[in-house]
Amino acid sequence: MTSFWSWYITLLTIGTLLALTWLIFATRKGQRPDTSDTTMGHSFDGIEEYDNPLPRWWFMLFVGTLLFAVAYLVLYPGLGNWKGVLPGYDDGWTSAKQWEREMDKADAQYGPIFAKYSAMSIEQIAQDPQAIKMGSRLFANYCAICHGSDAKGSVGFPNLADQEWRWGGDPAAIKTSILQGRNGVMPAWGAIIGEEGVKNVAAYVRKDLAGLALPEGNEFDLSAGQNIYTTNCAACHGASGQGMPMLGAPSLTSNAGWIYGSSLAQLQQTIRHGRNGVMPAQEQYLGEDKVHILAGYVYSLSRNKE
Ligand code: HEC
Ligand code: HEC
Repeated sequence: MTSFWSWYITLLTIGTLLALTWLIFATRKGQRPDTSDTTMGHSFDGIEEYDNPLPRWWFMLFVGTLLFAVAYLVLYPGLGNWKGVLPGYDDGWTSAKQWEREMDKADAQYGPIFAKYSAMSIEQIAQDPQAIKMGSRLFANYCAICHGSDAKGSVGFPNLADQEWRWGGDPAAIKTSILQGRNGVMPAWGAIIGEEGVKNVAAYVRKDLAGLALPEGNEFDLSAGQNIYTTNCAACHGASGQGMPMLGAPSLTSNAGWIYGSSLAQLQQTIRHGRNGVMPAQEQYLGEDKVHILAGYVYSLSRNKE
């Protein structure tokens, strides 16, 4: 802030406070018994206004807010470039500095606990009741918004408590998914294989790969669908639809792990326009230690029930 604006704000604020102080004292008058039922002289529908002083507690409330304002403006930044003199902060308080201090305090408090868990393997964490408890709290805070509080996912968000994995379900793959995020890119095929092709390959995926019934009364060319599949889809989803974790291409042999729906209309939609699921990377945000515990928690969801 330039010093002109700094002074402008400072003088305006202090001037206003002084004016308010003057106003509250100037209009104050003691209780005069003889005037207590003098009216102001006007009447609205028979209701008259008495000329009584402000009650004492009310007056003191105004004085209190003025004192608070002065103390606040001395301690905290508020008057132009003035940084405030709040004890414990060199060069003035800022919300970022306060946040850093609280984080440092939390690190000092929880650091040793996290250190203990980062020395353990993800399989061991999945067996440790205290770690699971921490993991479930972290999950509720950071992951449940997308994956659901029971981790069972919803449309567009994978179930993390079942045996189906898009990117692999071993400890290292789960940790990488959380740490670095994932981006599943299913290309759009509508313009390439045409509407007829979309319908046939969707029917092929649903019937021949996933083993689900097709709606009655519709004619599909399943062998044309199979040809399209072999030419265009097998490279990512595998020759028999087994999926490819390296690309995040899900298995198409059952609808158990599908997140975009298994109805013909939903399959056609997916194939026609493509999909682009994004799992946000947590490394910068939560840090390695918390992700390690979360990986153990997620790993436990599909294993501990076996
Ligand atoms: C470049 C690799 C690639 C090719 C080629 C590809 N897919 Fe996909 N497909 C993916 C990926 C990755 C996903 C997951 C997208 C996501 O998670 O958002 C996916 C998702 C899907 C889904 C949705 C599964 C669910 O979870 O609901 C279906 C259905 C599907 N693909 C069918 C096909 C068909 C049919 C073809 C051929 C016409 C095809 N894919 C070609 C990579 C590919
Ligand atoms: C903004 C929504 C969102 C949030 C928040 C989120 N995820 Fe995800 N996550 C996704 C999506 C979408 C995918 C699927 C990505 C894809 O299409 O391949 C995914 C995928 C995953 C996978 C891989 C699943 C598989 O089948 O391979 C794991 C593991 C995972 N998330 C764990 C977590 C954890 C743990 C957290 C909390 C730190 C979290 N996610 C927070 C949206 C989210």
